[in-house]
Order: sequence, then structure tokens, then C-alpha cells
Amino acid sequence: MRRSGRTISMDTEMPVHKKRIAALASGRGSNFQAVIDAIAAGDIPAICTGLITDNPQAHAIERARAVGVPVTVIDYANFSTKAAYEEMLLAAMRNCRADLFVLAGYMRILGPAIVHEFSGRMMNIHPALLPAFAGLNAQQQAIEYGVKVAGCTVHIVDEGMDTGPIVIQRCVPVLPDDDESSLADRILAEEHTALPLAVKLFCEDRLEITDRRVRIR
Ligand code: GRF
Repeated sequence: MRRSGRTISMDTEMPVHKKRIAALASGRGSNFQAVIDAIAAGDIPAICTGLITDNPQAHAIERARAVGVPVTVIDYANFSTKAAYEEMLLAAMRNCRADLFVLAGYMRILGPAIVHEFSGRMMNIHPALLPAFAGLNAQQQAIEYGVKVAGCTVHIVDEGMDTGPIVIQRCVPVLPDDDESSLADRILAEEHTALPLAVKLFCEDRLEITDRRVRIR
């Protein structure tokens, strides 16, 4: 529209409703970084409202602080029971007021109270093609088993260990000379695109979960 020499631009973009996401991480935090980078790049319509960690040494803490994400440290070592720890964790999670919790290298199994309260709203990244090689040291399990293809899985969290409905899987070859470390690096590169994509799909309301099956709209 042109009026007396001035251009008035009309904003025709639809307002984007941003979801609130928060992360749980226990260590390095490279998957958390991939998610916050994708948010900063505008690829995920979300704001990150918090990082919660059970480990005061987690490098994820610095990654969060660098971008102004509030950090809550709940040091597992300070609690005499898992129940007492999870009571604090639950309070911290409520405090994030998040639509989605991303378990980005969170190395503990969540108890039933938390799983129940946030049912369908927690995602985990696991470095194996589930249901193969659930649990710890998944890459080493894959090497020892002798599989030729490995990968990663993003899944919804349920009461089991790495058993929830599968959102995305990515595969990589296992090469003859691979060891745990070289395979983990190859899988990790896939994790860094699979997890942000799964978070994006959630934030765009494009995941439809029926029983164990996740349909992407
Ligand atoms: C990743 O391999 C993830 O799949 C697993 O733990 C590792 C965490 O790495 N659950 P990072 O902390 O995200 O760098």
C-alpha cells in the first residue's frame, strides 16, 4: 500500500503459537544443544523454560546458562531415597510449566508418579534401534551382538525402560572396525537431527498417538 510516498507493509504472517518445552539431562548435553539451537534458528516453534539435571557437573548446565535457560540442579547424591529425589524432581518439572519434557541424555528411569502426570508429554532419545538394545551401553550392546545396522530412536516415555511409542528412528551402518566410541559418534550425529525433528513435530501438534503407534500428520 503506497500513501504519500510511504510504504505501509501489512503483516500477513499467521501468529505462531509457541509451545513451552523443558529438558532433563544428566551429562554432556549435546542433544539438548541441538534442540535449543533448532529453537534459536526458528525451526521449532517453542521456548525452552528450563533445564533440570540430577548432576551438578553436567556440561548441559553451561549450555543452558549460555542461552539464558533457567537451570535447576537436583543432585541425586543428596537424597537418601529415589522417592525423595523424585518428589523434588516432580516439583521442579511442574515449575517449568512445560507442554513437553525432552529427556536429552537423562540417565535415570522416571518413577510412575512422574510418568503418569506427564503422560504423552515426555520424549526420550535412545542410541539404538528399539526395541533392540534398551538400557545402558546400547552402542556396546550393538557391537557385541554383531548387528550390521544400528541407530537411534526418539520415543514417548512410558513406565518401562525405553519401551514407549516410537516417534522417529534413524539408522547407520555398523562398520567392521567399529568400536563403541566410533559407533556412538556415528549414531550421535543422527540423534542431533532426529531429536529436534521429533520436538518440532510435537510442537506443531503433528503427532497422533494411538496405542503404540505414532502417526505423523
Ligand atoms: C545420547 O547418546 C543419548 O541417546 C543417550 O545419552 C547420550 C547423551 O548424550 N540417552 P548428550 O548428553 O546428549 O551429549
